[in-house]
Amino acid sequence: MSIQTEINKRRTFGIISHPDAGKTTLTEKLLLFGGAIQVAGAVKSNKIKRSATSDFMEIEKQRGISVATSVMGFEYKGLKINILDTPGHQDFAEDTFRTLTAVDSVIVVIDVAKGVETQTEKLVKVCRMRKTPIIVFINKLDREGKDGFDLLDELEEKLGLTVRPLSWPVGMGQRFKGVYNLYEKKLVLFRPHAKQDDTGEAIEITDLDSPDLEQHIGENAAEELREEATMADEVYPEFDKEAYLNGELSPVFFGSAINNFGVKELLDCFIEIAPTPLPRETEERIINPLEDKFAGFVFKIHANMDPKHRDRIAFMRICSGKFERNTNYLHVRQNRKMKFANPTTFMASKKEVIEAAYPGDVVGLYDSGNFKIGDSLTEGEVLHFKGIPSFSPEQFRFVNNANPMKAKQLAKGLTQLMDEGVAQLFIKEINGRKIIGTVGALQFEVIQYRLKHEYGASCQYEPVNLHKACWVSGEEAALRELTSRRKRDMAKDKDGNLVFLAESAWTLQMAQENHPEVRFHTTSEY
Ligand code: G4P
Repeated sequence: MSIQTEINKRRTFGIISHPDAGKTTLTEKLLLFGGAIQVAGAVKSNKIKRSATSDFMEIEKQRGISVATSVMGFEYKGLKINILDTPGHQDFAEDTFRTLTAVDSVIVVIDVAKGVETQTEKLVKVCRMRKTPIIVFINKLDREGKDGFDLLDELEEKLGLTVRPLSWPVGMGQRFKGVYNLYEKKLVLFRPHAKQDDTGEAIEITDLDSPDLEQHIGENAAEELREEATMADEVYPEFDKEAYLNGELSPVFFGSAINNFGVKELLDCFIEIAPTPLPRETEERIINPLEDKFAGFVFKIHANMDPKHRDRIAFMRICSGKFERNTNYLHVRQNRKMKFANPTTFMASKKEVIEAAYPGDVVGLYDSGNFKIGDSLTEGEVLHFKGIPSFSPEQFRFVNNANPMKAKQLAKGLTQLMDEGVAQLFIKEINGRKIIGTVGALQFEVIQYRLKHEYGASCQYEPVNLHKACWVSGEEAALRELTSRRKRDMAKDKDGNLVFLAESAWTLQMAQENHPEVRFHTTSEY
């Protein structure tokens, strides 16, 4: 099969949501459709349950499980669909941001009762920055929730999306009767806990004024649907695939994942409109998936939880050409050739060694410490993929060595954990002290635990009063001036980039005012 045919078959996407909106349930239903799993409950949740936040072992166990569920491939109607899992827990938001660099589109799940929640806002913002095409699935219609129009308003106001409902709910909660497919002009009646092959009864009603409607859903519901569907068609723009692909228009579906209702409509529309593997930007040039030379980048590194094996799995997205097992490729940052005997793909919960992979695929590479997030592999060309930035952490602590006999182990452990992207390390210019910055408090525990169990090193934390870490850029003279005047606030990140550590929003503002020629960035890529 030609590379072109392989590429056209692939759809690689991520599902994002606030925890508990139904991401895991929806993923599972999609896999059931693809026949990738046979029974419900086969997909272990990658979410870190709230109750587990104080039980660290439990968190690690759950994270261990998520290796298998990091990528889930399945076939549906002749297409190869890859779902990349994204942790919903906010303390792992950076993991999710990075995973979003490896997808071509996303499905956003919203809980009908809760509407748009904070975690969704943050993640969608990242997607919008990258113009990632977005489909919205409003879940749990079997429960009472917000009014359909109010929810669409929320999507527009809070997420900044331009929306177009492609289905419309008939009632909700106890009164939930089904959804009307505005696109195909079909009414699908709701039956709770429908089986996989039973996705409700589709009744074709091309004219909503037809008295058939009353027959199926009763007088009140019929009246309400007529009014709302007409209004939806009038208020919202026509669905336009081009606009969706440009990230400018988001189709919206309503359903109930747990009841497997509305999921097939979502999937059928998804395969029709979702993009095939898209080009990727590098510092050098744009990489087109159709190029015959292979190139890919590492977007996630997962520690193997088995203490007997220190190896890790680096997840690589294939961006162009064909990746083959046991073939020499250039590890660009290390400038050396590497080959892989056991590249792995993931079909649902099964891992499998593969011979070849194509653009849009994600392969797992066993790694003993050679990879960092953002690394590229190519057939020889020097390429640096863009769009895998570090974000300014929100929480900071000094890290001190608690066991002087294990200084080397601590240094190694910290470097490797930072390469995995668990947290960020800043080294103060003035005294060489190390500061760890994270998105959430959980990571401090994760680091301490893993340093001890994987590297035999101990660390202690000390509070440090910091508000943000800003990467700085500008003319050399301006940067020199900043560094000499604000010596105490300057640090280097793990790649040696200059960073301004701001104690408060006010100090940051003062520094900006006093050094107008320096630019301050809250992400490492600008
Ligand atoms: P997440 O991955 O986004 O965190 O959400 P998940 O799928 O785990 O779903 C969160 C909860 O919402 C689960 O209940 C799940 O059963 C429920 N749920 C998902 N879809 C629907 C739906 O369409 N309708 C209703 N009523 N509930 C839904 P739980 O009690 O937290 O977990 P469990 O014990 O059922 O697994």
